[in-house]
Amino acid sequence: MSAPARPTPAQLARLKTGGDCLRFANRLFKSAGIAHGQGFVSAEEESLTLMGHATGLAWEKLPRCFERDLNLKEKSAFLDLIHRRVFERIPTGYLVGETWLGGLRFKIDERVIIPRSYFVELIPEAIPQWLPPIKQVTRVADICTGSGCLAILLAQRFPQAVVQATDLSAAALEVAQINVADYKLSKRVKLHETDVMAALAKGPKFDLILSNPPYEPAGIYQGLPAEFKKEPKQSLVSGQDGLGVIRKLLGQARDLLKPHGILVIEVGGLQAAMHRAWPKLPFLWLSTTDGSDCVCLLHASDLARALPSPRRRP
Ligand SMILES: C[S@@+](CC[C@H](N)C(=O)[O-])C[C@H]1O[C@@H](n2cnc3c(N)ncnc32)[C@H](O)[C@@H]1O
Repeated sequence: MSAPARPTPAQLARLKTGGDCLRFANRLFKSAGIAHGQGFVSAEEESLTLMGHATGLAWEKLPRCFERDLNLKEKSAFLDLIHRRVFERIPTGYLVGETWLGGLRFKIDERVIIPRSYFVELIPEAIPQWLPPIKQVTRVADICTGSGCLAILLAQRFPQAVVQATDLSAAALEVAQINVADYKLSKRVKLHETDVMAALAKGPKFDLILSNPPYEPAGIYQGLPAEFKKEPKQSLVSGQDGLGVIRKLLGQARDLLKPHGILVIEVGGLQAAMHRAWPKLPFLWLSTTDGSDCVCLLHASDLARALPSPRRRP
């Protein structure tokens, strides 16, 4: 899509109320072909979020500015945010420095992918039903933790557990550290800079290993909208086929689960590729509300049977 036309000073001068500014932003987002899906689902959700940031109004108080004129500071802050969203393609989450997942607010910036994992649907009920009673779940891992959002949701869901969270990116772990501290979970969420699970190999085994790894094949990344390319490439892409991190994870998790333990991995559009790559693994695809069912569950025994450990081979 060609670059959208820049609004003229006369057009901008006609914008008075919060409602004028929101309608203008929504039209501009649509004509510019802005892509959503980085924690926000529509033009309206993004423009309201940016309006909240510009005016300092909480989400539920935003209607107060729909009919009144914005003051100069509010209007210029809002138009500046809209400009950066449309003409620099900076995602809304980075512009406001935070996003929400599972009812929790997380600080974010360009060091981490913007949280939007399917695990937010699955951590409350679907995953615990495959595990012993909640209080007996004491060892949990979040592999590829990024902002730490899933590690924090896991720590809240499994209150007796210590969550070991890993990432290859030291910069991402700095953001995770901020979020873990904000939720006062530093004693129960431990961060490790490591390749997949390498740093956890010598520790005790896990009841649950969960991962939302990078899973886009390199070719798909090339075609992503510009705003997605503002996120760290390492958080999206994993090799030519998208399976790079998943390959390592399956091998490492096999040796690190308790006998009743489970591994759950979000794999995006790679379901068919997973079946082709590991025909002996009995993947169970967990149901998600949009029907993509892109999270697989494996038992420790499935991994031991289908991927015999090199150490155990005769
Ligand atoms: C899709 S993001 C997921 C972040 C977070 N769990 C979430 O759901 O928002 C993938 C993360 O994996 C990390 N990563 C990429 N390769 C890795 C590797 N080999 N070992 C550990 N982490 C890796 C990236 O830095 C990125 O933070």
